Amino acid sequence: MDFLQIKGGKKLSGTVEIDGAKNAALPLIASTILSKNRLTISNLPQVSDVRTMVKLLENLGAKTSIDEIKKSATIDTSTIDHTIAQYEIVRVMRASILVLGPLLARFGYCEVSLPGGCAIGQRPIDLHLKALEQMGADIEIKQGYVVAKAEGGLKGTTISFDKITVTGSENIIMAAALAHGTTRILNCAKEPEVVQLCEVLRDGGVKIEGIGTYEVTIEGTGGKTLDMKDFAVIPDRIEAGTYLCAGAITNSEITLKNVNPTHLESMLLKLKEMGFSYDESEESVTIKPASKVEAVKITTTEYPGFPTDMQAQFMALTLVADGVSTIEEKLFENRFMHVSELSRMGANISLNSYTATVEGNAELCGADVMATDLRASSALVIAALVAKDITNVHRIYHLDRGYVKLEEKLQKLGADIKRLSE
Ligand code: EPZ
Repeated sequence: MDFLQIKGGKKLSGTVEIDGAKNAALPLIASTILSKNRLTISNLPQVSDVRTMVKLLENLGAKTSIDEIKKSATIDTSTIDHTIAQYEIVRVMRASILVLGPLLARFGYCEVSLPGGCAIGQRPIDLHLKALEQMGADIEIKQGYVVAKAEGGLKGTTISFDKITVTGSENIIMAAALAHGTTRILNCAKEPEVVQLCEVLRDGGVKIEGIGTYEVTIEGTGGKTLDMKDFAVIPDRIEAGTYLCAGAITNSEITLKNVNPTHLESMLLKLKEMGFSYDESEESVTIKPASKVEAVKITTTEYPGFPTDMQAQFMALTLVADGVSTIEEKLFENRFMHVSELSRMGANISLNSYTATVEGNAELCGADVMATDLRASSALVIAALVAKDITNVHRIYHLDRGYVKLEEKLQKLGADIKRLSE
């Protein structure tokens, strides 16, 4: 099993290229199920979750090919010959649930294994299923599978989500694209990844209003598959935020390329609150050192608020702030798994239900630590960059799910980090 070995204390400098967004790529790959023609997706991040989603489509009978050098995938779903998404694949990646909406909309029948929980929380899909039932689907849970039927296709209706759900919104947007009639989604997620999915479907011929707002209206094609066009995945705002934290914690000046600064606004403003400054251009951001790193209060919320996927990385950063910071996690019930690992490095963090209180000016020492989930693992790497001596981050298969060549990109910036095998 691989692990990352980091020797702390190095300043960073230079430029890092940000890859395409994993959380945009996954629904977009699933959306090709709605397309009658073959298409190519570029700026596709070469991470294991993306490979898993492409493999899932292949298992259903689609013709796929990934070009790692060009960072693209060509997918033809016209050859899909069955609609059962097996447990073996879904258990590896809960986002596999994103094939439920498009498979049901196109084929009228599918079986998708329940994703099961994960480290950060129970993560139910009740809102996905309730919305599909409101669109006329017959949903049953049988031996751990969602068995979904929609004879004659799905029907447009008004869906009001009790909670904002990113993949829930994406599933229903894709289902509505081929439904009979119009679907209005109230309390729809408006993350940049949801926006790109809507834009790609619109370019494929679906009439969609309200893109990027909490109320989206979709006129279904009545079962007619789409003439989807090739597209490039938007930059990964969470990968970008992770490198901003790496630059900030080492008090370095580094430049991120291939980013969309608009998507980073809540994080950049938080960094500014902490005493950092930054320059931005159309596709790049340069972060600059703070003369004094201020403690801060963070509350995670849906976009455009502070993203839960950046909570762990900013917690690592607050360890070097001057004073006590508080971090409130409002989206997931168990997204503080990184706290115990950071404590092994000398952090002093107390938890009270959904709020973490972080002592600043921490004397961090290298240690053997264990990644528990994707973003927690990047937080451990960020802390290790300023910890005394050596930190070994184990179970980095979590990291490989959502970060392209993290150690190579950090090495290029000057960090002392290498990937070793146990
Ligand atoms: C997406 O997960 C992202 N994953 C997550 O990123 C991200 O943390 C999350 O959105 C929030 O931004 C992908 O896009 C593939 P939700 P998702 O449905 O869609 C509750 C990463 O690190 N809920 O928006 O699963 C749920 O329990 C990952 O890249 C229900 O109760 O998240 C949570 O408390 C981690 N019932 C809240 O809503 C439902 O049916 C938000 O979840 C659905 C969700």
